[in-house]
Amino acid sequence: MIASVYSILECFNMIILGIESSCDDTSVALLDCSDDGFFVLSEKTASQIDVHKKYGGVVPEIAGRMHAENILPVVEEVVSHYQLTINNKQFKPDVIAVTTGPGLITGLLVGAEVAKTLSYLWDIPLIPTNHIEGHIHSVLVNGTDTKSEVRSLKSIAFPALCLIVSGGHTELVLMKDFGEYELLGKTRDDAAGEAFDKVGKLLGFEYPGGPKISAHAKTGNPHAIPFPRPMMTSDGYDFSFAGLKTAALYWLRDNNLAVTDPNPIFASLRGKFGISHRPITISDFCASFEEAIVDVLIQKTKRAAKEYHAKTIILGGGVSANPKLRNSLQNLVEQNPSYELLVPSPKYTMDNGAMIAVASYHRAKNKKFVDWKDVVVNPNWKVYDL
Ligand code: KG4
Ligand code: ZN
Repeated sequence: MIASVYSILECFNMIILGIESSCDDTSVALLDCSDDGFFVLSEKTASQIDVHKKYGGVVPEIAGRMHAENILPVVEEVVSHYQLTINNKQFKPDVIAVTTGPGLITGLLVGAEVAKTLSYLWDIPLIPTNHIEGHIHSVLVNGTDTKSEVRSLKSIAFPALCLIVSGGHTELVLMKDFGEYELLGKTRDDAAGEAFDKVGKLLGFEYPGGPKISAHAKTGNPHAIPFPRPMMTSDGYDFSFAGLKTAALYWLRDNNLAVTDPNPIFASLRGKFGISHRPITISDFCASFEEAIVDVLIQKTKRAAKEYHAKTIILGGGVSANPKLRNSLQNLVEQNPSYELLVPSPKYTMDNGAMIAVASYHRAKNKKFVDWKDVVVNPNWKVYDL
C-alpha cells in the first residue's frame, strides 16, 4: 500500500497535513504542496494563551492536557472542512508532518501519538519535523488571505541566513540548502521573546508581554533610556538578553516603578536619562527596551550576512511579528540590495501547523518517510543536527 502512495507522490502535488503542538498552540493545517508553492486548504489553531496567562507563562502539565483535549476536534474540523469543499468525496491526505521537537515534551507527545495513529489508520507516510525548521519555512506559506506574491521553494536563494527569534529560541542559522543547516550563534541565556515576556510581566502586562511592549513602543521615544546592548560588538554570533532584562528591572526600581503597576498605560516617570524635559512614559520605556533588543539582533544579522555572503535573509519565530524588527531588517536589505528578505505573513509568525507541512515537503519529495512505529519525540532537537 505504501508503495502505491509513493508512486502517487511522484506524479501529483501532495496534500500534507501539518500538526504542531510543541508549546501552547494546537495547530493543524492541510496544504496543497508542490514546487510551485504551498497553499493552505484548511487550517485551525486552538490557542491556550487565555489559560496560561493566569500563571504568567506556559505551564507544561496544563499545556499537555489541553493539547490532548483539543487535538482530535481540531484535526477533525480541518479535514472535514476540506472534505466539504470537495463535495464530501472520501478524502485523506498524502502525507502527515508532525512536530517532534524541540519543545515541551507534554505537547510533543500528544501531537506525535495522534500523527502515528492517523498514519496507521489511513496508511499514509509520516515525516517527523523540526519546529525551528518549521519557523524557517513559515515564510513560504501562502495563506488563504495572502495578497502578496506566491512563494515557492525557488524563493529561497542559498546560502540563506535565518534569524529565528521566539519565546524559546534566538538563533542565527546558515541554511546552505534544504535540510542543511549550520548554527552560527544562539542565546547563552534568555531568548529574545522570553526577555520581552519577562519585562512585560514587570510592567504588569499579561502573558505574552512581547506584543504589548511592541504596541506601546509605537508611540514612545526609543532613545529615552540608554539600555545596554549585550554582546552586540563581541566576536561570534551568540546573544545574551538576561543582562538587558536585569537592566530594565533596575531602571524600573530606581525610578519607583519597581514591580507591577496596576495601570501602566497611564503611569508616568520623571527619568534621569530623558533627553527631553518631559517625563519618561511607559511607551518610552517600551520603545527603548525594544530598540535595544532589535539593535543587537540587526547588528549580528548584518555582520553574519556579510561574512557568509547570504543571498537570502529569513526571519522566523513569534518575535518576527515585531514591526520594529521587520522594518529594521527591511532597511538593512534596502542598503544591501544583494540580499533578498523573506518574512512570514503576520498570521504565520506564531506557531502553526502550516509551516510544519511546508517544512516537511522537501523530505516528502525525497521519500524520507519514517515508519510510525519508529517516530520518537526529542524536546532538545536542534535544527542543525538534522
Ligand atoms: O514562536 P512562538 O509562537 O512560540 C515559541 O516557539 O516560543 O513565539 C512566541 C513569542 C513570545 O515570547 C511572544 O512574546 C513573542 O513571540 N512575540 C513578540 C511579538 N509578538 C509575539 N515579541 C515582540 N514583539 C511582538 N510583536
Ligand atoms: Zn515557535
